[in-house]
Amino acid sequence: MSANPSSQAVDLDSAPEFVNGFFALFRTSRLYNANHPAYRTQAAKFFSLLSGLWAMDGRAALETIDGHLFVNGRRLPATARASAAPGFVMELLEDHQLGGLLFAEGCQPEELEHLFFALAEAPTGLDAWTDFLTRLNIIHIVPVQLQKTPTEQLGELERQRGVARKTFVSAVSLVESSMVAVGDGKSMYQPAVKRVVRDLVDQIMEDEAALLELAALMHYDEHTYAHSVNVAVLAIAFGKRLGLDKKYLAILGFGALFHDIGKTRVPPALINKPGKLSPEEWEQIRLHPILGAIIMISSRDTDEYTAKAAEIAFMHHVSLNLRGYPQLPSQRTPGISPMIIKICDVFNALSSARVYFKEPFPPHEVIRKMVVEMRAEFDPLLLNLFIATVGIFPVGSLVLLNNGAIGIIYKTNPENIYRPQVRIIANPDGNKAGLRVVDLNERDQDTGVFSCNISRLLDLDHHRLMTSAEPLADIKPSLQ
Ligand SMILES: [Fe+2]
Ligand SMILES: [Fe+2]
Repeated sequence: MSANPSSQAVDLDSAPEFVNGFFALFRTSRLYNANHPAYRTQAAKFFSLLSGLWAMDGRAALETIDGHLFVNGRRLPATARASAAPGFVMELLEDHQLGGLLFAEGCQPEELEHLFFALAEAPTGLDAWTDFLTRLNIIHIVPVQLQKTPTEQLGELERQRGVARKTFVSAVSLVESSMVAVGDGKSMYQPAVKRVVRDLVDQIMEDEAALLELAALMHYDEHTYAHSVNVAVLAIAFGKRLGLDKKYLAILGFGALFHDIGKTRVPPALINKPGKLSPEEWEQIRLHPILGAIIMISSRDTDEYTAKAAEIAFMHHVSLNLRGYPQLPSQRTPGISPMIIKICDVFNALSSARVYFKEPFPPHEVIRKMVVEMRAEFDPLLLNLFIATVGIFPVGSLVLLNNGAIGIIYKTNPENIYRPQVRIIANPDGNKAGLRVVDLNERDQDTGVFSCNISRLLDLDHHRLMTSAEPLADIKPSLQ
């Protein structure tokens, strides 16, 4: 690799750019024939990216290893995984059971053309791919063997995580396409979005943990599309806990995905402006709920989904005490759907890095802020149930376990924030337990299932009571 500054710049940007170029060429090949100028332009761009990688490394390889995407051994940042192009490439490789594709130096534009126009009919597995490429007269593009990784051997839990990630990435991609389309004055991809929302609902109904965990890990900037999907995942899981039926959950999830769609009508420079906004700039940002509702009610196919999405977009910054925005003329109470979305939105926004605060707040601080500083904004019962849903119990929470024991959250497990260690203070028979600690992340050795679960949070006010205990010293200052 050359050390001069210009090639260094190419090096840093080349991996995501190459993945984007691959995705763009695939999309163009779906829309145009090979002689169309749009395809020719995109193919030329991709070819120059290939040439750049060959010049730098002598090869150009796209590979997936243990859930990460690599270009010539350079791993794409974790944040890229929720974007359309890396998500597509990983899905493509996974669907075809390939570890990657190697574009050897000497690859001709015709070979790229043959590959991209036949990609929809590509087979699965390394041997079948080798035959497939040979039939197409492609000799400089080589399929790479899928590497067996520990992740792939972890069984059902990991399979569910894989399915969850796929759904998550598709949802991010669809929200992005829809919001970009709406920003350009076109209509959103409603049928596809409804399908992906139903997938989210089905997966959360089956087992919410994988998606919730993903939502907890995908803490990007609150203005990214991943934020919208996080809010939808949280809202569906929360709605499930509230006993809402599958159809309502899908409608709620659809509304969650587009709660901020009004921001497509606010100048991007304002949305992403670091530092303080002027009062006039705030006024513009505060228009996004109204703009969102207008977009929803004026969309081409209006139905119960878009009607609920309009209500959610309009009300998601209105507090229970009617503070917030837009200001409402009458003393009305916000409906349950916008209140659910408001809780999920605030929770995710505080848990994410923002334009002006680069560091997200830790979970217990998020919960503390919502429960203590912002309590007048939320329905207290809903907030209580929400915290039980996300399962991020701050240290010091009093919880009832499913075996009837009562305990205090003692320590979080960094490898699974949903399964902390609990100090038992009362046994199932109601007798004092003598400060025994149970790790909720431990599984029964015979059955492989978790030995114990949290049934519910008992009393939020105990947070403050328990912070005088010695192990909780680290969070004491923030709770006073
Ligand atoms: Fe918003
Ligand atoms: Fe939001």
